[in-house]
Amino acid sequence: MRNIWEFFSTERVVFGNGAIKQLDSILQRLKAKNVLLVTDPGIVKAGIAETVISLLREADYNVVVYDRVVPEPPVSSAMECYEFAKSQMKTDAIIGLGGGSSIDMAKVAALLVAHGGHPLDYYGGENQIPGPIAPLIAIPTTAGTGSEVTSVAVLTDVENNIKAGISDNYMRPAVALLDPELTTGLPPYVTACSGIDALSHAIEAYTAKNFQYIQAEGSILFQGSIPVSDALALHAIKLIAENLVLAVQQGSNLEARSNMLVGSLLAGMAFSNAGTAAAHALAYPIGGLVKSPHGEVTGLLLPYVMEYNAAVETKKMVDIARAFGINTEGMDDREAALAASDAVLNLLDDIGLPTRLSQIGIQEKDIPEIAAKSLPIARLIRNNPRVPTQQGLEQLLRNAL
Ligand SMILES: NC(=O)c1ccc[n+]([C@@H]2O[C@H](COP(=O)([O-])OP(=O)(O)OC[C@H]3O[C@@H](n4cnc5c(N)ncnc54)[C@H](O)[C@@H]3O)[C@@H](O)[C@H]2O)c1
Ligand SMILES: [Fe+2]
Repeated sequence: MRNIWEFFSTERVVFGNGAIKQLDSILQRLKAKNVLLVTDPGIVKAGIAETVISLLREADYNVVVYDRVVPEPPVSSAMECYEFAKSQMKTDAIIGLGGGSSIDMAKVAALLVAHGGHPLDYYGGENQIPGPIAPLIAIPTTAGTGSEVTSVAVLTDVENNIKAGISDNYMRPAVALLDPELTTGLPPYVTACSGIDALSHAIEAYTAKNFQYIQAEGSILFQGSIPVSDALALHAIKLIAENLVLAVQQGSNLEARSNMLVGSLLAGMAFSNAGTAAAHALAYPIGGLVKSPHGEVTGLLLPYVMEYNAAVETKKMVDIARAFGINTEGMDDREAALAASDAVLNLLDDIGLPTRLSQIGIQEKDIPEIAAKSLPIARLIRNNPRVPTQQGLEQLLRNAL
């Protein structure tokens, strides 16, 4: 039995409308003068990159901009970003501006700037990184991944058709700078996908197996549920349940956007310590097979995974039903637990996301391979409250087809 837990997060979190203007003082504290900004064409088009570049130039920083990040970035593009950075100048600090794709790419750039090598050298397992990465400021423009505080960077391994992560506590950004005003222009579909991803993080962290019963030796990154992650995750679930539909349907509703950004932040803090579980493990091979955004896949799987787990993690599932505002009086625990998975299914409908795997192009014949490829992802699978088996996961996937 494991009897010690620990909690890591980004050291400094700056949050609020207009918080982007703190960038200069944040960089001063990091003693940085030469800054690499990593972002993507959507952020440039939305005018957000220009806002940040102007702020930096006005304050006399030397700025180099890499703006070619693609959504769900492949390993090769991380190498391209690093080569670009090396060819330009010595880098004191890196800014990741955008959704999870841009922030993750900035994390990998910060890793390679500090330690060299190739992303694949650090792939797969945990704790493969020799020391701190280059100083990184993460500025999220989606309310989803929580990457601004997490220990993870996800890249797509195109050759092996699977998404995989580099995970290490050294991968956490030095500063998370969150400004809800940057998220008001996020299109409804991306709001829905990224928001439901945040909900998946919170629910999978909250219902993760208790840390004491995780079957692993030594120091592990994803420890299972611990008191700090439970507190963060349950509040995140409540915030997201109350605000995601509004954020999707009324993009300019700044209060809903702000609550979603807090929700995704708390969910990131929670899952990067507790871990995620079967929905994320299954999403990795599915993400290699179809082009759907990560959030669309984890969100779709979430209610089916909750149903699969309901008999084992009943009490916490009841808490989730209540966080969704469901009156559970008069229900027995099992009914109330299943009401939580129904609530997530309804939420998917309300925000216009698919609720069946067949809608995103998965076929019956893909199911055995998806289950088989997810089972070896031990750091996620061992967190699932009900032990996943080939047969059990195949059944779960068939229910979701
Ligand atoms: N590092 C982690 O802890 C972690 C956790 C979960 C997921 N991920 C990864 O993050 C990626 C997904 O990130 P995401 O969901 O944030 O989306 P994303 O970064 O892929 O962005 C999706 C699209 O939205 C656009 N966009 C983003 N913000 C915008 C804004 N404010 N206005 C207009 N357009 C905007 C982008 O330009 C892009 O085209 C996946 O690769 C996923 O695997 C990482
Ligand atoms: Fe996720």
